[in-house]
Amino acid sequence: MKTNIIDIAYLVSAIMFIYGLKRLQSPATARKGNQLAAMGMFVAVVATLFVQSILTIEVMIIGLVVGGGFGAFLAKRVEMTGMPELVAAFNGFGGIASALVAGAEIARFMAPNAADLMGGAFMGSIDAITISLSILIGTITFTGSFVAFGKLSGRISGNPVSFPGMRFFSILFVLGAIAGMVWMGMNSGDFAAADFVNEPIVQAALGIAIVGCVLGVLLVIPIGGADMPVVVALLNSYSGLAAAATGFVLDNTALIVSGALVGASGLILTNIMCEAMNRSLFNVLIGGFGGDSDTSGPAGAASAANLTVNSTTPDDVAILLSYASKVIFVPGYGMAVAQAQHAVRELADELGKKDVDVKFAVHPVAGRMPGHMNVLLAEANVSYDLLFEMDEINGEFDTTDVAVVIGANDVVNPAARHDKASPIYGMPILNVDHAATSIVLKRSMRPGYAGIDNELFYNSNNQMLFGDAKDSITNVLNEVKAL
Ligand code: TAP
Repeated sequence: MKTNIIDIAYLVSAIMFIYGLKRLQSPATARKGNQLAAMGMFVAVVATLFVQSILTIEVMIIGLVVGGGFGAFLAKRVEMTGMPELVAAFNGFGGIASALVAGAEIARFMAPNAADLMGGAFMGSIDAITISLSILIGTITFTGSFVAFGKLSGRISGNPVSFPGMRFFSILFVLGAIAGMVWMGMNSGDFAAADFVNEPIVQAALGIAIVGCVLGVLLVIPIGGADMPVVVALLNSYSGLAAAATGFVLDNTALIVSGALVGASGLILTNIMCEAMNRSLFNVLIGGFGGDSDTSGPAGAASAANLTVNSTTPDDVAILLSYASKVIFVPGYGMAVAQAQHAVRELADELGKKDVDVKFAVHPVAGRMPGHMNVLLAEANVSYDLLFEMDEINGEFDTTDVAVVIGANDVVNPAARHDKASPIYGMPILNVDHAATSIVLKRSMRPGYAGIDNELFYNSNNQMLFGDAKDSITNVLNEVKAL
């Protein structure tokens, strides 16, 4: 009876996870999808704890209130720009939880009443290897994620760190981990009432945990701070794999399914991000561009010496926008920094009142995390109907009067199309330069994430509106209202 209830609960939660993930495909349904998947996890956790009589109702309620309250507090407090580091920390906790559960499983095999607890005290070599895999992936995810968290939150330098012989050390540690896993497999057997501390299998598990922790650090320190979102997506996938491995250890279907879904979706996301940046995962992992982006240099430092740029004023931009038939806004990382999304929405509304056809073009890697721009625009209540993916809208720039680039840089750099020497060569970009006029809102001529100059800024039909994006948009908005 108990087994039936658990199986049904796990099936229900697996359906909720899959349906929830599917709903994440569109901003319009993403919120509901997230809630559905969270409910699925709730069902799985409660069914496991309750039906297996692991915890009393009181303890479960206390756990739910404390855990749920902590999660809600963090979700409310964190800024949108801080989301990647929060996800990194969550991945780290997921990884260490998987490793600890796998470790606890060894202890269960060694309990004096292991036969009653586990239906047998014999740990087969497959059990031992699965446990070791869970510990290894879990600990790599744990330290790797917290190094990523440190880099993203500025607690440690975002610059790539490497030292002579680093690759050699990494290979040595990987070999050490494999040796530990083989050792665990060879030393599996009947451990009922064994001496926990002196058991070789426990020492091997501890060794694997230490090696995993070191490997996690070695994996992430050579990667530049700005590449961290890709690494966070990869670590997210690792945390799923660790959970799935733990699911095999515990023979828990819900954990296997949810871990596999996280593992696969994390990997797909990593791939999407790499493709949209036109970089291979290998290139990201060995540390390409993207250390701490220096925004403290003098304005104009990156500009080409003999080229000129046209700068403009809020009132001129207001006139241009008010008398345009079609305007496309292109948001980028600078919009997030300036928190200009609400002012942008107001400006779009105001232009709409003047019968201007307004659209938003969203590049897949604009900003610093997947869906960054969608989330900000949704927060500002920009209608989803006005948001267009790059492939949908790129053909429309040719018939656009004004393209307004709000703190975006790399994702509109035409060099990506033709300059083979450029680090962003081959990255698909938004065709802002095809519009009759482009206006770029940024504070200076400093480069964006890729650290390169942008030839769009020097086009004769481009105008620069220098200043903080929120201030600039607010000034333009006031002028538009006054017209
Ligand atoms: P970027 O190329 O990074 O450019 C952002 C621009 O915003 C900067 O040039 C900066 O110029 C400007 N800016 C910063 N603060 C501002 C403010 N307060 N007001 C106005 N402007 C401000 O941004 P992008 O075009 O969005 O491209 C994203 C880049 O990040 C791509 O290279 C992408 O590959 C990379 N990346 C993205 C992701 C994801 S998943 N989105 C993950 C990893 C890497 P000033 O300093 O002159 O103001």
